[in-house]
Amino acid sequence: MLPVGDVRHWHIGPAPASLETAPINPASARKAIKMSIAVVYESMFGNTHRIALAIAEGLAPFGVVVTANVNDQQAKEATRSADLVVLGGPTHVHGMTRPESRKEASTLANDTSKDLSLEASAPGIGVREWIKDLDLVPALCAAFDTRVDMARILTGAASGHIEHALTKRGSRSIISPESFLVSKDNVLEDDELDRARNWGASVGKAMEQFIHH
Ligand SMILES: Cc1cc2nc3c(=O)[nH]c(=O)nc-3n(C[C@H](O)[C@H](O)[C@H](O)COP(=O)(O)O)c2cc1C
Repeated sequence: MLPVGDVRHWHIGPAPASLETAPINPASARKAIKMSIAVVYESMFGNTHRIALAIAEGLAPFGVVVTANVNDQQAKEATRSADLVVLGGPTHVHGMTRPESRKEASTLANDTSKDLSLEASAPGIGVREWIKDLDLVPALCAAFDTRVDMARILTGAASGHIEHALTKRGSRSIISPESFLVSKDNVLEDDELDRARNWGASVGKAMEQFIHH
């Protein structure tokens, strides 16, 4: 990972003429580079967590992937050395969560009439604070969120705000932000995990295209 502003070189030059080796095929040489990818998420009730794991599965063929919650120390450590950060969180009040909205989510989880439980890593900061606190931001980024399955104009979407916050810090977004949908009762809609796996693969392909062109 290089600090923001530094230029990262992925170029692979020809082997020195003095070496008696088979000529390097630039295409396979490029493939030999293992990109380092951090999938970082915030989650109150577990849906964004599950989506993050599915995205990481889709990304697995494209590099070394570490998945961590914003409240795990590992999230910062992995991001510091990552080429790409894939960052997501739940949509609260049309955007990224805030301390007050997370408190409201905790209250909902304590309501026995609702079938909700709070993630072990939920208490603490959210994506908004995590980005502000990052000392180094990877060169490349992609953003996702979870939100209610209704017209986006009514729900808002945290992912656009996450992308904006990361690009403001100097990272380059390689794919449009994506939303994954939950019901009004906070249950992931059918096929969203498959969609997340596929989106993870699309992020991997976008990363490869970005590096190779
Ligand atoms: C306080 C609060 C505010 C919310 N506001 C929105 C909203 O503005 N738009 C929306 O689509 N969903 C909203 N939701 C639903 C969340 O997006 C949903 O609970 C979340 O995606 C589930 O992810 P999680 O299980 O990882 O927490 C809100 C939920 C809570 C608790």
